[in-house]
Amino acid sequence: DGIRRRDFLDIAAVSAAGIGGLAVVYPLISQMAPSKDVLAASSTEVDVSAIEPGQAIKAVFRKQPLFVRRLTGAEIQAANAVDTSSLRDPQTLEERTKEGHEDMLVTMGVCTHLGCVPLGAAEGEVKGEYGGYFCPCHGSHYDTAGRIRKGPAPANLEVPEYEFTSDTVIQVG
Ligand code: FES
Repeated sequence: DGIRRRDFLDIAAVSAAGIGGLAVVYPLISQMAPSKDVLAASSTEVDVSAIEPGQAIKAVFRKQPLFVRRLTGAEIQAANAVDTSSLRDPQTLEERTKEGHEDMLVTMGVCTHLGCVPLGAAEGEVKGEYGGYFCPCHGSHYDTAGRIRKGPAPANLEVPEYEFTSDTVIQVG
């Protein structure tokens, strides 16, 4: 009789722990998933001082790859030589950069076709037929202003909201 009573108590204790555990875990999970407001408020600072002309760095902005690239004089010329009316997504380099910093191209590293990460930001990666970025998933070519020039992607690489907080630091978001 005493043994049975203990078994019952143990089972009751386990059940209570189980229920209590669930009750605690659930709110923790919902707190861990950031709300849209929190995501919108998050920003990323990038020090661009070490990026040489012709080089790019990969950073992360809102959990997605971000490319920051310092264009060479030739890359700027190539971008400016394009007749924008011939572009799928017509934009000038000037419209895609900040005044006084036309050599600094800041884009998401996310192909506008189906979201692969294009090549061309890291040393030695292919840059595609237009010298900017190349998406190997289905062959989208972006030019030195990150504009779509060939392949299935419908739009230019997205330029996120950002500003220069000093000559060498940008704040994205
Ligand atoms: Fe880049 Fe399809 S995802 S070409």
